[in-house]
Amino acid sequence: MSKFLITSALPYVNGVKHLGNLAGSLLPADIHARFRRQTGHEVLFLCGTDEHGTPVELAAHAAGVPVADYCARQHTVQADIYRRFGLSFDHFSRTSGEANRQLTQDIFRCLDAAGFIAERTILQAYSPTDRRFLPDRYVVGTCPHCGHPSARGDQCESCTALLDPEELRSPCSAISGATDVEFRATRHLFLKLSAFDGRLRDWLATRRGWPTLVRSIALKWLDEGLRDRCITRDLEWGVPVPKAGFEDKVFYVWFDAPIGYIAAAIEWSKAASGRDWRDWWQSGEDVTYVQFLAKDNVPFHALSFPATLLGSRLPFKLVDTIKGFNWLTFEGGKFSTSASHGIFTDTALALLPADTWRWWLAANAPESADTDFTLARFVDGVNKDLADIFGNLVNRCLAFAVARFEGIVPGAGQLGPLERQVASALDAHLARLRRHHESLALRKAAEEVRAIWRLANAYLTEAAPWSAIKDDPARAATIVNTGINLVRISALAAWPFIPSSAEKVLCSLGETTDSVPWPQGALSAIPAGRRIAVPPLLFPKIAVADLIAAQPI
Ligand code: 2FM
Ligand code: ZN
Repeated sequence: MSKFLITSALPYVNGVKHLGNLAGSLLPADIHARFRRQTGHEVLFLCGTDEHGTPVELAAHAAGVPVADYCARQHTVQADIYRRFGLSFDHFSRTSGEANRQLTQDIFRCLDAAGFIAERTILQAYSPTDRRFLPDRYVVGTCPHCGHPSARGDQCESCTALLDPEELRSPCSAISGATDVEFRATRHLFLKLSAFDGRLRDWLATRRGWPTLVRSIALKWLDEGLRDRCITRDLEWGVPVPKAGFEDKVFYVWFDAPIGYIAAAIEWSKAASGRDWRDWWQSGEDVTYVQFLAKDNVPFHALSFPATLLGSRLPFKLVDTIKGFNWLTFEGGKFSTSASHGIFTDTALALLPADTWRWWLAANAPESADTDFTLARFVDGVNKDLADIFGNLVNRCLAFAVARFEGIVPGAGQLGPLERQVASALDAHLARLRRHHESLALRKAAEEVRAIWRLANAYLTEAAPWSAIKDDPARAATIVNTGINLVRISALAAWPFIPSSAEKVLCSLGETTDSVPWPQGALSAIPAGRRIAVPPLLFPKIAVADLIAAQPI
């Protein structure tokens, strides 16, 4: 049994996230964590809110509340939503916590002592109208690379290029819209990323099996030449810089945010006895570390965070695999928090149970390309897969067992060629399902789950216990016994994707859900004589019109 450290990109604390955030990091990380737990591995699954940086300050400013209060409230809102989505974090942290402050400062001191920090005078955007510096997102303008008209001072959302504010064309203030932006000289600290080119290339060469998307973004960055990055900002909210002459500055959010993954483990460790975060972050070979994130996060996770850890010379583990995702678009356009375009996670939960969203977003994960979410595709997909295939399987099999065998699992009797054929097909599906999970191929894993549901349905249709019961009750008993076991395996295979529904099915079969095992091929796990029940309707059919009527989107 090996250990899996799993992290999802930390969502910015500002505001409720949309389905794109769920699809592109949180949900796939949860599905993988559940799969690894199911297959007997020890898992530490960490996430938290990313609470520093200009987007957060701007949102607090817009809400008219102090930033600290704003963050505390929004953290609770997000944590509650993720709990209701069934995201099984071992700990959900906050980057503004004490553990992250201390660790970020320690890592910085080590980098400084090792000579990887440089002091430089830079020109920083300043607005005389606002009477302040305008770091990162406080300044917006036209992207010099792709011409996107509202690129932010730190990164262009459109082409993902990392930017320095002075590169923007026609810059203006994000607070007041003032165009009198000038650039004033100010002292800042830089991480000498350029010094890590060789070490990062060597390290990347040792990382096997990374998705092409992630590897190609990382290599593109290396090939274009790594530039030293300014890691301090003229802001009040953030981790204070522990260096003489820089007391009035804080670290850039992307310097402290990934360190938050380690800080989350430290907090988790402190919360109960018998836990040691070092077993996960400093233990070497027996831990596999997998990160889940959207493609715009790749440069930070594949290059600057590893460089930070390497340069600190502290014995922290580097990521083994990064699973990166493309974008989920909404009805042909971008999901946008600022423009309130798309479905937000709180609205989604008000409309339908979490599993409905979980299933569609996983089965249509934006892995090899962007995925367009449309209400029509969503409704069609969940009606077919969940109501017509899985829900129907559970209902037709268990309802028949209750009606004709008084809800008691009949003995299997003599298995026939059909049962042997199903058992062997099932073994093949389960082997493939496991391989797809192991290679982080979410869509393919979902397809395999669907194939198992279909196999079970096809078996029942072909074996037809409703006909057999008329003149061969022993054969009907064999079919019902097999069918009930197929329902169990279907629920176990589905559990990482739709945990709440799968647990309802398992409970109705009298199975424990304290720890949900990996489905073994054996079609005899449920003993004869056990009492079972039909669960309440799992997936009522939905219609686009009902969704729109319930909540105009
Ligand atoms: O892009 C984002 O939403 C960032 N908040 C992700 C941070 S991931 C980690 F480094 F903290
Ligand atoms: Zn651009």
